[in-house]
Formats: sequence, C-alpha cells, structure tokens
Amino acid sequence: LSNDHAIKELAESQAFPSSIPSNYHALRNPDEELRPEDFIDEEIPVIDFSLLIGGTAMERDEVIHHLCMACREWGFFMVVNHEIPKRLTDEMLDAFEKFFNQSAEEKNEYINKNVLNPIRFGTSINNHEDKIRYWRDYLKVVVNPEFHFPAKPFGFRNTLFEYAACTRKMGKELLKAIWESLELKTDDIEVALDIKSCFQSIIGNFYPPCPQPELALGLPPHSDHGLLTILLQNGINGLQVKHNNKWLHIKPLPNSFLVNIGDQMELVSNGRYNSVLHRAEVNGKSTRMSIATIIGPSHEAIVAPPPQLVEHDHHLAFNGMRYKDFLEQQQANPLKGKSILDLLRVRDE
Ligand code: SIN
Ligand code: FE2
Repeated sequence: LSNDHAIKELAESQAFPSSIPSNYHALRNPDEELRPEDFIDEEIPVIDFSLLIGGTAMERDEVIHHLCMACREWGFFMVVNHEIPKRLTDEMLDAFEKFFNQSAEEKNEYINKNVLNPIRFGTSINNHEDKIRYWRDYLKVVVNPEFHFPAKPFGFRNTLFEYAACTRKMGKELLKAIWESLELKTDDIEVALDIKSCFQSIIGNFYPPCPQPELALGLPPHSDHGLLTILLQNGINGLQVKHNNKWLHIKPLPNSFLVNIGDQMELVSNGRYNSVLHRAEVNGKSTRMSIATIIGPSHEAIVAPPPQLVEHDHHLAFNGMRYKDFLEQQQANPLKGKSILDLLRVRDE
C-alpha cells in the first residue's frame, strides 16, 4: 500500500484493522497532546447575517460592533440567517463525497505538488515537508478569478459554481462589515484588498473513521492564509479552536457557517484582528467532512495595513508581501502555527 496518498483507502484497507502506522501518531507529539484542563467550554460569537444586509441602520451598527469584538477576541464566529440555501450546502457535501468515493486512479489524476495548481487532491499538508502525517484527504479547487472544476463526478461543476458565487457574495459582505468595524471607509476596500478579482479556493476535507483517534489528528494547529474562511461541515464535529491559550470544541448550530479571520486579515488590520489557530480531531465511528472556502485578496495584491490604522496605532505591525509569494512560502515550509505571518511582523527595536 502506497504511503503517499489517500487516507480513505488506508482506512478501508484491512492492513490496519485496529492500529494505525506510527507516522500518523500526531498526538504523541508533546506539543499536540492535550489534557482535559487544556480545554474550555464557551460559546463562540454568533453573527446574524440578515441584520447586516436587511436590518435597520441601528441593527447593522450593532452587528458590526459585535463583529469587531468577535474578530478581536476570537477570530472565529458563527454566521446564522444567511442566504445560502440548505439545498445547495447538501449538494456540495454530496458532490465532494462522490468525488472522494471514486477509485484511487480517478482521484490520483489530481495529485500535484504545486500550491498554485488549480485542482489538487492529496493527503496530509505539505507532503514533502511533514514528517508526521494527518488523517485527512482533501480536494482543493481554485474557483475565482478563474473557475476550475474536476470533470467528475457528474454535476459537480454546476454545484461548485453556484456555491462559489454564493460564498463569495457572503464573504464580500462580511469583509465590508469587518472593514467598517475597523472604522475604515468601505470605498477604500477595493483598492486595499483588491477583492473584485479575489483569489477564492474551496477545499473539501474528508476524515474517515480512525481506529485510534486518540493518537491521530486530521489537521495540525494552523491558521488560514486568506482574508476569511467560510466553513461548512457535514454534521460531525471535530474542529477545535484556540482561545485564550485553551482549546474549544466547536459545536455549530444547524444551518450555520463558521467563519474565521485569516493571516491576510490579521496583516491588513495591523494586528488588531486575530488569525486564530485551529486543528481537526478525528473519531472512530463516522466519516467527517468539511468544506472550507477561502477568500483572499488577488494573487498579485500586496496587502498592507492602511495608513489610517498605522497612524492611529502609532506602529506598523506587519510588512506586506505579495499574496502569491505568501502562499508559495507557506507551502515551502512545514506547517507550524503562523510561521509566514511571523516573518512579516515588524519587531520593536
Ligand atoms: C480547515 O482548517 O481547513 C478545516 C478544519 C475542519 O475540518 O474543521
Ligand atoms: Fe484551516
């Protein structure tokens, strides 16, 4: 059995009915091994999207105020009363499930080492860099400014296209509101973030049941590289988020999306907003699926904190870097915390 790809096939093979190969023992690493006291039980902020777009001016202001707190203190929030139909989220989960259920040969066509390749199927994170492997398969598709899609399963294209458009629209509304929450003028956002030609990718994550969930991780602690990530799950929980140095198990409300701040937003907010670490646990019983939509600035954009923020804070927190270069740097390094963002941090003399 090739060690290179597809956890699904590994999980279904009879080779490891009750134990997993030792290179999957992510939780044996003392950094990752958590005790019960490392967890807290709290509710993450909930944003009512309908008030943001259809509420009175006062209601909108209140939501923006709440967003400011959510981005600053959590970096994570739940979005309810959004406009994305349940029919569409069901179709998306179904399309990705069908993709992962194809034969290894059909999926392997999309194995590719380059982070900028528009369609990538794989396992683990940075295959060639990571010594520890993770209990996850993924399919990543770039959907904007150019729309890509895998030829199979049949019908994937239309579902993906519609979902990409809906999440992009919602993402832009949220970005505008977040921009306002930084007390910046929304007219400036196109220039500062170049979101008209935003780089958008959709990643389907597939975590099969794991015979030793107490040893493995689906994804190690990481932050996301974009401005915002919009996450959909198949009803099986497993996302953990870092908050005040503790970890939190996320239990999303039905029909909600989880949204988090990415590295590019931490950068552009001059460090006011937090691109928060999160990781995925696996379980022994059910296949978990999640679909992450990452909205970033355009590939060519060099996002940097706007002068108004720097002036107000009396300090430039980060230097800018072309987004495309940021992505390539991230790919070239083992994924560990917020490594690339840390390189751009301006240190006090
Ligand atoms: C991700 O961090 O991209 C996905 C996390 C999850 O599966 O919940
Ligand atoms: Fe993530």
